[in-house]
Amino acid sequence: MKKNNLYRKHVFVCTNERNSESQQSCGKIGSELRFFLKQEMAKRGLNKEIRINKSGCLGQCSKGPCYVIYPNQEWHFNIDMDQSEKILNEILE
Ligand code: FES
Repeated sequence: MKKNNLYRKHVFVCTNERNSESQQSCGKIGSELRFFLKQEMAKRGLNKEIRINKSGCLGQCSKGPCYVIYPNQEWHFNIDMDQSEKILNEILE
């Protein structure tokens, strides 16, 4: 199978939302972060190079809102929007 390197980085942000008090979900923060990151990539003309995708549950709910960056499988947990500029800069590195 031929390997295609379509994107320099591919970011999956969990936006899964649950209507449950007993189980955490990333949805609110994840959706805000994804929106912010997509806007910032578009502003810089990088949206064809760095892809920001929403994701369903990534199976790490108890660790707080999360995202993962491929190809290096860099996981980040317990994020909030106060960290958005720092997250953006890390993705742009
Ligand atoms: S809801 Fe985000 S990892 Fe499960």
